Amino acid sequence: MCGIMGYVGPQQAAPILLDGLRRLEYRGYDSAGVAVTNGKIDVRKAEGKIDRLADLLESEPLAGTIGIGHTRWATHGEPSDLNAHPHTDPTGEFVVVHNGIIENFQSLREELAGEGHVFTSETDTEILAHLVAREYRGDLESAVRSAVAKAEGAYALVVMTKREPGKIVAVRRISPLVVGLGEGETFLASDIPAVLHRTRRFLIVEDGEMVIVTEAGARIEEIAGGAVDREVLYIDWDAEQAEKGGFEHYMLKEIHEQPAVVTETLGGRLDEDGTAWLEDVHFDDDFARNFSRLWITACGTAYHAGLVGKEIFRRLLRIPTNVEYAHEMRYADPLVSSNHLTVAISQSGETADTLAAARLTKERGSRLLALTNVVGSTLAREADDILYTRAGPEISVASTKAYLAMLIAQYLLALRIGRVRGVVDEELAARVAHGLSLLPAHVEELLHHDDEVLAAAESIVDADDVYFIGRGLDYAVAMEGSLKLKEISYLHSEAMPAGELKHGTLALVTKDTPVIVVLTQQALYDKTVSAVQEVKARGGRVLAVAYEDDEQIHKFAHRVLRIPRADDLLGPVAAVIPLQLLAYHVARLRGHDIDQPRNLAKSVTVE
Ligand code: M6R
Repeated sequence: MCGIMGYVGPQQAAPILLDGLRRLEYRGYDSAGVAVTNGKIDVRKAEGKIDRLADLLESEPLAGTIGIGHTRWATHGEPSDLNAHPHTDPTGEFVVVHNGIIENFQSLREELAGEGHVFTSETDTEILAHLVAREYRGDLESAVRSAVAKAEGAYALVVMTKREPGKIVAVRRISPLVVGLGEGETFLASDIPAVLHRTRRFLIVEDGEMVIVTEAGARIEEIAGGAVDREVLYIDWDAEQAEKGGFEHYMLKEIHEQPAVVTETLGGRLDEDGTAWLEDVHFDDDFARNFSRLWITACGTAYHAGLVGKEIFRRLLRIPTNVEYAHEMRYADPLVSSNHLTVAISQSGETADTLAAARLTKERGSRLLALTNVVGSTLAREADDILYTRAGPEISVASTKAYLAMLIAQYLLALRIGRVRGVVDEELAARVAHGLSLLPAHVEELLHHDDEVLAAAESIVDADDVYFIGRGLDYAVAMEGSLKLKEISYLHSEAMPAGELKHGTLALVTKDTPVIVVLTQQALYDKTVSAVQEVKARGGRVLAVAYEDDEQIHKFAHRVLRIPRADDLLGPVAAVIPLQLLAYHVARLRGHDIDQPRNLAKSVTVE
């Protein structure tokens, strides 16, 4: 999704904007641009990667200490130089960048065209530049207010005018926006990591708010009018965490961070006896004991984490649990009511569909728990309870460490609730706690078997289709393994419960079709092996992820990726590591842009 930057201060703006845009690259984009004001508004923009914009700035530099920048992920109009942001009004006195979608843009465009406005791009954003200019009566804040009053949809909109130098005005409706407070300089960005190396003090702009930025700082107001007193948020993330740290790709770095992530997610939250202390989960024992249904809602990888969560909650808590794609749930009129608990899972905490589904459950009386990685994200701010995953900034579009942290957090939540409800006894709680405590070492060990995973990747790199199977928790992991593979290698892949194979997909299994089976669930072992035999009988090539002491597996599989023996309930945590590495190696062997796969964005902030 689009990325936004803004700068007001004593330094040249263009290099700072460019640097911030590079740090927002992970959000996905297809063009980039910057504008500065210095007596007049100057814009440079280019389709393609930020390097093209950097080249342009090299040949046509921009001088000025106030500016805005943007990476665009096309929604209205193809990726092109003309459609790239920033956009100006016809006089060139007003300039805007925008993240989001203006839903009524067609009618606004017709209205403006009827008044004689001529547009140079196909975007919804250009209309906002025209609107602000039309509404301007000598005060930028008022002009922005009346312009956005006419716009429907989601946006973070940032506006400058040469008529009021030294000031940037921005508004937020749904799409994220933060302010970084420096010494005598102020930054605007779509997220904190973009400027974390410049300041640790932030103001979060909330939905429905306007921020007026000058070099002296920022003032937040309601768009509708009225002052807002926002507390400064101090962020203590290590800026190093946002760099590649010597790895070829962010994804590989993030995979390798996972032992530390598990430790971090568990840190100070779990006693040996299985008592879980969750600092921002505020519901009392009474609620924990009595809520009658659990909903999990999420998208993509976070949804797959929810599939694991569903199994954990079902087994440990015996509470009816639904896991729902957020984009389905928001329109499905779900039977959510008071006395329910909804766990909305989102790495970014900004996924539009997840926010919408979460809000719906809250409206219907459910208590809302945000399971998210981003401190101060919209989801976190809107929830009653927060369970931070503490995975640190995740830059690669393909989620890895955040997924693992989501799993760990759900075990903690199950222990917290299960002990209060009396359904997880002391022995079981201590067993799960012990299993969790072993995980950092297990994950570390798996990272040392990278050569075997690479060999497995070489064996499937030329396949046309790959199938993943498993049962129960193994099926949940298979779903994530399949998504990882397809999103970065562009190889067609599907996951299904092992028992489902013979109901259709088996027709696609022929000689040498790779079928990857996850086999940690001992109670279902023989059942899963039956499906594997069906694959073998059709000439399929079986790659198994199985425990290190599984002595039978060689009879069924052509190749085995071993994982340390664990309690079956915790099996998925280790099993996903070789699948993440497999996806990484296949994508690398196929020569793809691993951290920014085509057509995908890190944070899907539009519906
Ligand atoms: O930020 P979120 O966790 O809400 O994002 C949800 C999905 O867009 C995300 O998990 C996506 O599926 C990942 N690219 C998968 O690796």
